[in-house]
Amino acid sequence: MKITIVGGGYVGLVSGACFAKTGHDVTIVDVDSSKVGMINSKKPPIYEKGLEEILNETAGKNLCASTGYDSVADSDVSMICVGTPQGEDGSANLAYIKQAASSIGKELKKSLGYRVVAVKSTVPPGTTENFVRPEVLRASGKSVDDIGFAMNPEFLREGIAVFDFMNPDRIVVGSDTEKAGEIIEKLYSCINGDVIHTKTTAAEMIKYTSNAFLATKISFSNEIGNICKALGVDVYEVMKGVGMDHRISPYFLNAGAGFGGSCFPKDVSAIASIAEGMGLDPVLLKSVLKINDAQPLRIVEILENRAGSLKNKKITVLGLAFKDNTDDIRDSRSTPVIGALLSRGAHVSAYDPMASGSMKKIYPEIEYCNSPSDALRDSDGCLVMTEWPEFSELDKEFSLMKSQIVIEGRRILSVEDREGICW
Ligand code: UGA
Repeated sequence: MKITIVGGGYVGLVSGACFAKTGHDVTIVDVDSSKVGMINSKKPPIYEKGLEEILNETAGKNLCASTGYDSVADSDVSMICVGTPQGEDGSANLAYIKQAASSIGKELKKSLGYRVVAVKSTVPPGTTENFVRPEVLRASGKSVDDIGFAMNPEFLREGIAVFDFMNPDRIVVGSDTEKAGEIIEKLYSCINGDVIHTKTTAAEMIKYTSNAFLATKISFSNEIGNICKALGVDVYEVMKGVGMDHRISPYFLNAGAGFGGSCFPKDVSAIASIAEGMGLDPVLLKSVLKINDAQPLRIVEILENRAGSLKNKKITVLGLAFKDNTDDIRDSRSTPVIGALLSRGAHVSAYDPMASGSMKKIYPEIEYCNSPSDALRDSDGCLVMTEWPEFSELDKEFSLMKSQIVIEGRRILSVEDREGICW
């Protein structure tokens, strides 16, 4: 099939590349000409495991990128994958969605056959039906007999997005008509995964609910972890026993410094703000965010309790990315931690295998080191903030510290008797 993907960010690029890998003819449209140039020259603008190999195989053949929307009229499916950044009140900003919908609509004026416009971006329930559909129909001058609408959310984890795309737990296809839903299902005919057909609004809600539920599992584990620490019980032993219940599952029960990234904090805030806008009080969702905001500051308090005043002390932060295997620091738990350390007058040295460059833009004043040893030398305290597997091998490096106070925000060290945020 012919597909135009609007938005070459991590969702659009990974989806476009994977659709091309499974044999479709894909055009990725992006306003950023340097990104377009990189995709066409087989260089992924982001790091995702396996992506470069797919670009090498498909770019210049059945995958291309462009700054123009020319491919839309001829595409069976045009898929919107642009960003929905968080507004000041926590709600999702739909400006890019609107722009994409009207540009697609303008091009669809010229189309001859039946076309489907699908939304893949995470959007508030009702957006496809009440916002994208009228905008595309208005700009194209066509009717619902000519254009079908669908909402097909993604569940890709950063870092292993290609694997997730190719091995989905489920493929959610929300559509306004059966015909549109069948066309979207056909896009995935080479991929194994259960397909569930819903209304577009339910598909939009499935995405928010999945992320909100996973975030809730993490905040729940963190709250239980804080209680376990006070009781002197190991929360990891507890959650192992709890996760063996098939109704609960062992995933996303790792207590620690909380969730970060571009999705969980934004999506939980968005769904809470939608609820409040309708006069509801989303008590649980607000608590999930509240626990998550408080969690990183707990680790600084634990450090202060052990090391005393942090003024003029050297404190090492190991891990800056919001999780391992990425250079992404969006809503990383180390950001508020570094802020709190600096406000207490500490000198901060940091090490991260990938994310130092990104963090430098937020905190140019701290010291960025090329190895854990450099960061730990003469340090008065160390906070481990990201679950990088390489940290599990650290041992004698800690003996370089002036005072060996090490507190883990992620359960990753293998050295004995390290205090953790919840253990
Ligand atoms: C998340 C979801 O897992 C994807 O399914 C979804 O598609 C994506 O958001 C999105 O909406 O686009 P991602 O943000 O890449 O994916 O990150 P995760 O691997 O889910 O981790 C999120 C955060 O939770 C990280 O900061 C991680 O350290 C933390 N986490 C995860 C915990 O604190 N405890 C856990 O048990 C698991």
